[in-house]
Amino acid sequence: MRATAVAHPNVALIKYWGKRDDGEANLPAVDSLSITLGAMQSRSSVAFDPAFSDDELWLNGRRAPGEQARLTACLDALRNLAGVDWRARVESQNDFPTGAGLASSASGYAALTVAAAAALGIPAGEPRLVDIARIGSGSAPRSLYGGFVRLEQRGEQTRCRSLLAAADWPLQVVVAVTTEAPKATSSRDGMRLSRDSSPYYPAWLETQPADLAAAEAAVAARDFPALAELAEHNCLKMHAVMLTTRPPLLYWSPATLACLQAIQQWRREGLPVFFTVDAGPQVKAVCEPAAAAEVEQGLAAIPGVLRTIRGGLGEGARLLAGDD
Ligand code: PMV
Repeated sequence: MRATAVAHPNVALIKYWGKRDDGEANLPAVDSLSITLGAMQSRSSVAFDPAFSDDELWLNGRRAPGEQARLTACLDALRNLAGVDWRARVESQNDFPTGAGLASSASGYAALTVAAAAALGIPAGEPRLVDIARIGSGSAPRSLYGGFVRLEQRGEQTRCRSLLAAADWPLQVVVAVTTEAPKATSSRDGMRLSRDSSPYYPAWLETQPADLAAAEAAVAARDFPALAELAEHNCLKMHAVMLTTRPPLLYWSPATLACLQAIQQWRREGLPVFFTVDAGPQVKAVCEPAAAAEVEQGLAAIPGVLRTIRGGLGEGARLLAGDD
């Protein structure tokens, strides 16, 4: 009862920040729209065995006891579906910085869900896998799908679908890595603090449906300038909520801000590129393929940018052959 799967991280262009409540089900307060990033990957092997006394996660070769609660919650949901009670050993590897605002939990839990479901004999098309991935990370369901992905929360149920396949609008993404260190405040804690203290949080919730509808229309029309304006607005609005949280969540470094200003300047000069930033100091520059080399060169030259990662949009999570 063992299987291995891979998944890519995703970056939201219309963000998810905030949960409906503090429950284990991890229900997002707003819907979101993301792109799956082909250049980075998580790989997860899951083995269930009656001899194991507890679930164990090994992340990049080390035990990760801090993940125990959500790991077991996620695996319990899968065990309930399969009617199996065995504990599991999970080995996950990321080929990019972990816990640093690059969505390693999204790709990690998407890969884990697909691998664990296969190991337990749950069919790949099982619709509840989306809800189970969400228990691990609110953005993980989006990494189950490729290309442009929309996530909707309806009551207790998450619905996720690909709006356009990666090949249907093959944008490029350049990530400017400005630190390799894990972030100080996790998304989970940060979201709770924002909901409880930011005066902008109600406005965030209220304006999200309009941003989402406009972005979905821009994706359908492959309208780059419209998507650029909407994605930057939505990103900065989320960071305005973070900044006005008590205590404040300031995830940016000086290099983050330098990248944002450079990207805005390049777009004013005619380069088709826009930025987005999550709960960390890394900047993701989304651009048309012809602009990617110039964007990468420009970002790499900004002081404080440690390295860049460039690639196209990716596929959804999938099983690797070879395990059974
Ligand atoms: O999936 P989580 O709980 O790590 O939250 C992700 C939150 C953001 O990355 C900041 C926004 C998003 O929609 O991915």
